[in-house]
Amino acid sequence: MNADLLIHNASQILTLTGGPQSGQKLGELRIIENGAVAIVGEKIIALGPSPKLGKQYQAAQEIDATGRVVMPGFVDPHTHLVWAGDRAAEFEMRLAGASYMEIMNAGGGILSTVRQTRAASVDDLVAQARGRLNRMLSHGTTTAEVKTGYGLETETELRMLEAILRLDDEHAVELIPTFLGAHAIPAEYSGQTEDYIDLICNEMLTRLVNWWEENAAERPLPFVDVFCETGAFDLDQSRRILERAKELGFPLKIHADEFDGLGGTLLAVELGSTSADHLVHTPQGDIEALGSSQTVAVSLPCTPFGLAENVYTPAKAILEAGGILALATDLNPGTAWCESMQFPIALACRYMHLTPAQAIAAATINAAAAIARADRIGSLEPGKQADVLIVEAPDYRHLGYRFGVNLVMTVIKRGKIVFSRGGEEII
Ligand code: NIG
Ligand code: FE
Repeated sequence: MNADLLIHNASQILTLTGGPQSGQKLGELRIIENGAVAIVGEKIIALGPSPKLGKQYQAAQEIDATGRVVMPGFVDPHTHLVWAGDRAAEFEMRLAGASYMEIMNAGGGILSTVRQTRAASVDDLVAQARGRLNRMLSHGTTTAEVKTGYGLETETELRMLEAILRLDDEHAVELIPTFLGAHAIPAEYSGQTEDYIDLICNEMLTRLVNWWEENAAERPLPFVDVFCETGAFDLDQSRRILERAKELGFPLKIHADEFDGLGGTLLAVELGSTSADHLVHTPQGDIEALGSSQTVAVSLPCTPFGLAENVYTPAKAILEAGGILALATDLNPGTAWCESMQFPIALACRYMHLTPAQAIAAATINAAAAIARADRIGSLEPGKQADVLIVEAPDYRHLGYRFGVNLVMTVIKRGKIVFSRGGEEII
């Protein structure tokens, strides 16, 4: 039989077959030792022992992965990839003792990025995000969710969406958009949060429905997300926005329990949200509800690390409750400017006490579930999209164990080599 690409002799192929992994099932990598993957077009057609596939398939191109791990591309299910400017000065203020929320309440933080993003054209936004996206790809991310939320006014929010869709069209990394108009209260609505929520519910979300039909009708609707937090949107306000979004047919996400456990996780479960993200100060009752739901718990360990805090997502409690745990970078200019999924994996092993196998499953198949794409990506199975990494290590545990360097050598997206260290350019 013919194949376009055959990757063979891999010391381990991490297939992660069997769907999203809940609770104690997390970490089933389903490894093929001395394995091979055959690809035709954009899809995987076969996996198995290398000697067997080598005999079965005549491939136009072959990659010898001797001494290396082959695995699914990382899925990063929570990023704020598109923004303008940076907040290096705030980083120094935080090092000198100011808290993230103090800076935000003084008009900095998210609102500082909002000012810079409002002043940027779509071209500027695309150009600034492109470098970050290149780094994500070279570190093994093949699909990423991307949020708006630095516009906080209809036009800039739509400009951010346009930038996300343009980047998705031009770049090998596949992008899944999320509307986050409820990321903060814009300065012009200070003290009038309810009026801003009216604007989101009555204008922004309905404009978004029309805009989507005109500009992206062939794509599924974006997610709608809310920052449910003291100083941002409280539980009732978050409910209003998410219920309205649900009514309009949008799938949901929520930022919950980053600093305070306000009940956002319970709300996510009640509304059938695809994911609830952050989950640092989540009450035990909420964890139990989450555990018996399909809502994916997205942990963002780069965020407490980035803020030099020492409380992380209670992964053990979430897994004991039966929850589906995923990992993401939370890439953003304030708390976590990190383009590599390898770093949250390393953090999760140390501070959330995950094994490397659990962290890898959380960064692939479960991360795909967190963006409702587990049927197409996140594992290596015949019929699935050929999003594949070749890792410069003979054993998967090197991911997590080693940190601060890039272990990804080759990235294949939809069957094409799109990054190879020392070889091809990033496409
Ligand atoms: O997920 N928590 C809210 N949003 C981001 C931070 C965004 C920013 O600081 O610019 C987060 O951590
Ligand atoms: Fe976030």
